[in-house]
Formats: sequence, C-alpha cells, structure tokens
Amino acid sequence: MNDVGVLEGVDVYVEDGTITEITNIKPDRDCDVVDVSGKILMPGFVDPHTHAIFAGTREHEFSLRARGASYQEIAKNGGGILDTVKKTRETPKSKLRSQAEHRLDKMLKWGTTTVELKSGYGLDFKNEVKLLEAIQEMKSELIPDIAVTFLGAHAVPTECGHDAYMKILTGELIPYIAKRKLADFCDVFCDDGFFNIDETRTILTSAREHGFKLKMHADELSANGGVRLAVELGATSADHLEKVSSEEIGFLAESDTIGVILPAVSAYLQTEAAPAREMIDRNCAIAIASDFNPGTSMVDNMQTAMWLAICFNRMTVEEALNAATINAAAALGLSGRLGSIEAGKQADLLIVDAKDYAYLPYHFTENKVVKVVKRGTVLEFA
Ligand code: NIG
Ligand code: FE
Repeated sequence: MNDVGVLEGVDVYVEDGTITEITNIKPDRDCDVVDVSGKILMPGFVDPHTHAIFAGTREHEFSLRARGASYQEIAKNGGGILDTVKKTRETPKSKLRSQAEHRLDKMLKWGTTTVELKSGYGLDFKNEVKLLEAIQEMKSELIPDIAVTFLGAHAVPTECGHDAYMKILTGELIPYIAKRKLADFCDVFCDDGFFNIDETRTILTSAREHGFKLKMHADELSANGGVRLAVELGATSADHLEKVSSEEIGFLAESDTIGVILPAVSAYLQTEAAPAREMIDRNCAIAIASDFNPGTSMVDNMQTAMWLAICFNRMTVEEALNAATINAAAALGLSGRLGSIEAGKQADLLIVDAKDYAYLPYHFTENKVVKVVKRGTVLEFA
C-alpha cells in the first residue's frame, strides 16, 4: 500500500473508453491530445461507502453532540437514523433522486468517478424499494458509475419489533430486490441497539443465498465480533472498524475481505479513529470512504477523507491514495476494471493541478482536480 507506482514522462492512450497503452515512446499517432505536463494524472477516486440518498439534514444532532450527547443516546430518543427515515418517507422519489444527483455531481467535480450508494432510510417495503428504484434510475443516466447496496437492516423502524422486521427483511424485501436486481450488495448495521450478530448472520446468509455480495457496518460503536462474521461469510468488505479488536485484525488480515475505514465518522462522533496503522502493518487491505450521510459524515469528497485518514488514522499519503482508488475499487469487487491506470482498465482519470500528489490531502479545502475524464471523455463542468 505504500507504493503508488509513479511514472514520469509517459503518455496514456485511451480508445473507446478503455486505457490501451502506457508508453514513453512517442509514436506518431492520429489522436486527440490532452496535455498534462506539469500536472498529475491519476485514477479517479472510488468512494465505496455512502448513504448519499436521503432527505433533510441533522445539524441539531451535531449541536447536541457538541454539548456531550452520544450518537446512541440521540438514536434512543428517536433521533439519528429514524429522524432521516421520517423525512425520507415523506419525500417523493423524484425529489430524493434530484437531490442525490446534485450531491453526486459535486462529488464528481471533486474526482469521485465511482460511488457506492446505500438504501437504508426507508425501512419498510415501499420506501426501501423507492430508494433503490431512485438509485437504479440514476445509474442509467448519471456519469459516475454507481454500485448499489440494500441496507434495509440499518435500524428497526418504530412501527415494528425486531422479529417482525426481520421477517419483512428476509421474507419479503431480500427476495423481491434480488428478483428485480435492484441491488448488487446487501449490508447490515451490526451494532449495539441495531442488529446483533445472530440477526446479522441470518440476514446476510439469506442475502447471499439470493445472489447478493455482502458488506457489513462492523465494530463501529462496540467490539461485538462483526469483523469475524464478515470474514466468515466472505463479505467483500467490512466497514467502520473503529472498535475492531486485535484478534479480529488477525482474521481480516488472513482474508480477502477489504477493511473500509470511514475517517469522517470518528471525527463527527468524537470517538477513537479506526486503527488503520495497525491494520496495514498487520497486512490488512484497507480502503477509505466518505460515508457521506446526514448523521455521522457530511464529508462528501475523497480529498478530505484522505486528509482525515492521514491525520487521524495515521496512514501515509501513499497508503491513503491507494486506499481511495485501487483498494476502494476492490471494496466494490471492481478492482479488475477500476482504480488504477493500467492497460485494459476503464479510462476514469483525474488531472490534478499539483506538482506533488501529497498536495491533494495536504490542502484538502481546495479542489485540485482540474479535469475529470470518465470512460475516456473529458468532462466539461458548468
Ligand atoms: O455509516 N452506522 C450506521 N450508518 C451510518 C450513519 C447513518 C446516520 O446516522 O444517518 C454510518 O455512520
Ligand atoms: Fe455507513
């Protein structure tokens, strides 16, 4: 993870949206040229964990936490995820979609060429399907590539008990979403006050049987063995990991599961950052995501997420760059197609106005991406 494989003075050839060749021999070819001399050409960022489709914001909770309230206390009193669920249920699909499109457009300008989007603010049949349909509509029209995750198990809705909601998830939603192919992944918020280990195992096992790839919100608020379960079930990624134990780091290191850290969350919740340094030193593959959501991360861009990962999770600049590109693609099962500049890969590229790539996270308040190339097309922004 500490090697970004810098090449100097090379040309990158692109044809039909795919990188065809990287060479320092300059053959005389008839093609359009984009001059990036004096700048950096890098792979587009992949943001592998967001909740970017939601209604309303929760700055009042940010204010309450600044006075000492915890995320769990706020959630127990009907705030948190359930507050966003109420507003999301009241909002029509078209409006949810246009708001999310606006967010993705901004992310794209900051270099995110592929993004994962989760449902999880519907929490009943109608509204979870509404969110997934909105994402699917965006997927067919929007420029960033979108990976879709069903997160019906984000919280238990107020109108139902745990057991009744488990039946809706496994008996109705999972089969329906699988049949209509509305999502690629199934995710569960496995934590105190949300879904316990046994419930998580039941939901994810059922999802796997229906053909979903798996993700898990693991070991965020408590060390409850979430990572171990994610590894046991062969999840593509285990995300959060703020409270991961030393034993669990060992399981992750031995597995193909990618550990996704969400550095903005520990900053927003004023909790200990995920131990990325130890995880990388012990050979875990780590990715970074924004976790953009109205409760625990209003960070929508990967340049800021990298800065946080370097300063608070003690990653090197090179590790953060790999974690935000190739490893982030792996966290979506897409590293064969995305996340690096290699012949055969999709031409999702960023032109960065900096001499040294360290400038990207270093000056994180300024967007250094001056051009975004998506599938070989140089995008023009208004
Ligand atoms: O990734 N941890 C669970 N889900 C989100 C928070 C969602 C919310 O508070 O609205 C997260 O941090
Ligand atoms: Fe999340």
